[in-house]
Formats: sequence, C-alpha cells, structure tokens
Amino acid sequence: MATLSQDDLKTLVGQAALKYVVPGEIVGVGTGSTVNKFIDALASMKHQIKGAVSSSYASTDRLKALGITVFDSNDVDELSVYIDGADEIDGHGFMIKGGGAALTREKIVAAQSRQFVCIADESKLVKTLGKYPLPVEVIPMATQRVIRQFRAMGGTAQLRLSDGNPLVTDNGQHIVDVTGLQIADPLGFETSVSQWPGVVTVGVFAYQKAQVCLLGTASGVKTLTF
Ligand code: A5P
Repeated sequence: MATLSQDDLKTLVGQAALKYVVPGEIVGVGTGSTVNKFIDALASMKHQIKGAVSSSYASTDRLKALGITVFDSNDVDELSVYIDGADEIDGHGFMIKGGGAALTREKIVAAQSRQFVCIADESKLVKTLGKYPLPVEVIPMATQRVIRQFRAMGGTAQLRLSDGNPLVTDNGQHIVDVTGLQIADPLGFETSVSQWPGVVTVGVFAYQKAQVCLLGTASGVKTLTF
C-alpha cells in the first residue's frame, strides 16, 4: 500500500467526520487545513443539512463558496456537533488550538455544541500538551504584561506577526504564542490563564474538550472516545 501523506490523512478524517453530521440540522464547523477537507466533503451533504455555524471568516467563505448556508451563532440554539481540528490532543481529549488564530470563535462554537469531534492526523496526538506553541488571544494593551506573566511561569512568549506586523484576529485582537510549557493540568491551566486581565482566550481546550477524535493513521482512521 502506498504511504499516505499528511494531506491524505487530513482528507480521510475530513470525510470520516461526515457520519457525525446530523441530517436536517445545523453543524458547527471549525477552522484550519483539516477542517477544509471536512468542508469540501460536507458539500456532498449540503442538501441534507440546514447549514453551518462557522468559527472564522475563512471557513465561512469556504462554506458559502460551496453553497452551504452559514448562520450567526446568536441565531441558533444548541448544536448537536462541532467538528474541528487541533494542534495537539492528549489521551483525555484535551487540546491545544489556535494555530490558525481562530481559537476564540472556535471555543464559542464548541461551547454551543453538545459534542466536539476532533479531526486530526496522528502527528497531533501527544502525552502532555505543550510542545506546540500555545496560542493566547490578547487585547493589544495587555500583550507585554501577558508575555511577562508567561515568562514568570517558565515559558517564552512572543507576539505573532504576519508580514512583519502583529497578526490581527477576526476579533481585532493579537495573539501571543507560548513555548516551554508542560501543561500537566489543562483544566487548572485554562481556569487560571483565562482570568488574567487582557486575555481574551487561551488556546487550551479543557472545558471544551473533544468527546471523539478521528485520528488519521498510516493504517486508516482510528476513533478515540473520551
Ligand atoms: C485554528 O485556529 C486551529 O485551532 C486549528 O483547528 C488547528 O490549528 C488545526 O489546524 P490544521 O488542521 O490546519 O492543522
């Protein structure tokens, strides 16, 4: 059998996620290269669903281009399922997210959904969160203070740039990326950092963890449940 590339694995899990989409309902849709594969696959079901709630302008544009209706999250009640990727996921379904800077809207849509189905290739599965730089969305006025607070915890934080300027999120805020942390207690970490003044969203998803992970591996899609 030919070796599957990382892109192939993303395609496989994107397609596998279709079985969690409930016909007749609105589906929560995340952001990123893996979710793009899911969105492309979702086009085959577009006449069976009411539409989607999206976690970024990028996903909204892609959904609309395929003829899928996108609803504002305020106009919809609870969603049965939210499908999104992750930068890291551990054996409990806790994740680091925000590599694509969409973490705040992702957390909002995840919180609105009964079930989080994470789609990821096997490179994302870790024992302990923290190897991938942790994204934290901050109000620009607080950036340097937040960077110092992470330094005091033993991490190294830096402002994320785009073309030499601070990256601006869909919410008009900035992102700091933190390395050098081992996040052994994701729930405690998320609780604490979320309360720092100026932090909009920390990219640890412990309260909004995954219940299912469709993991793309060399031998096919593995389903992990948490
Ligand atoms: C977007 O902000 C992220 O949370 C993505 O879900 C995460 O970065 C995974 O993206 P890829 O599927 O592109 O790896």
